[in-house]
Amino acid sequence: MKIEILTLFPDMFTPLHQSIIGRAENAGVVSIHEEDIRLHTKDKHFKCDDVPYGGGAGMVMTPQPIVDCVRAVDPDNKARRIYMSPRGRKLNADIARELAGEDFILLLCGHYEGVDQRALDICGFEELSIGDYVLTGGELAAMVTVDALLRFVPGVLGSSASAIDESFSDGLLEYSQYTRPAIFEGIEVPEVLLSGHHSNIAKWRKEKSEEITAARRPDLKK
Ligand code: ADE
Repeated sequence: MKIEILTLFPDMFTPLHQSIIGRAENAGVVSIHEEDIRLHTKDKHFKCDDVPYGGGAGMVMTPQPIVDCVRAVDPDNKARRIYMSPRGRKLNADIARELAGEDFILLLCGHYEGVDQRALDICGFEELSIGDYVLTGGELAAMVTVDALLRFVPGVLGSSASAIDESFSDGLLEYSQYTRPAIFEGIEVPEVLLSGHHSNIAKWRKEKSEEITAARRPDLKK
């Protein structure tokens, strides 16, 4: 899978390339590249934003650098083109799984008050939000999206079971996890988990998941 991230702040993406995702990149499972939109501006002062027509606070990203940047990284219009925006469809596990099936994803990060609508229309962007709050830019939202979708790409997680047996995969939050030592500060690990009895362990986990979901997220109940 190939991911192109279009941004005015490529340095913000250092944390994305660590740990599990960094290993997936090194293994050739995914290639993630940040393209600096500013490299594509025709403005002699490298400007990529301007005041909004109609007035109002803040600046709007101009269409020319964005459109040229998109055409440079995806000349054959092969990518699923996504603009990170609070106006978009809200990301969830089903959307992350769906995006994991794409070969090529292009994520556009806005900054300031957003981007000129014509850039979105010309390039055919869909919009995607990570939640009902406004961030200062789309960069963190793009990182969240990439992280969430890559967990569904085969070969990214060590064990293929990991993305199945987790919160939201069956409409429930995940059960509580324990590791060694068996007693910590006087608190014991639930006995059934030490029993080696697989069906009892599965039953305990299901019950825990249901209990936690009912207490914290009753809205998830089918
Ligand atoms: N950019 C600013 N806020 C955002 C949000 N909530 N989701 C996606 N992109 C954004």
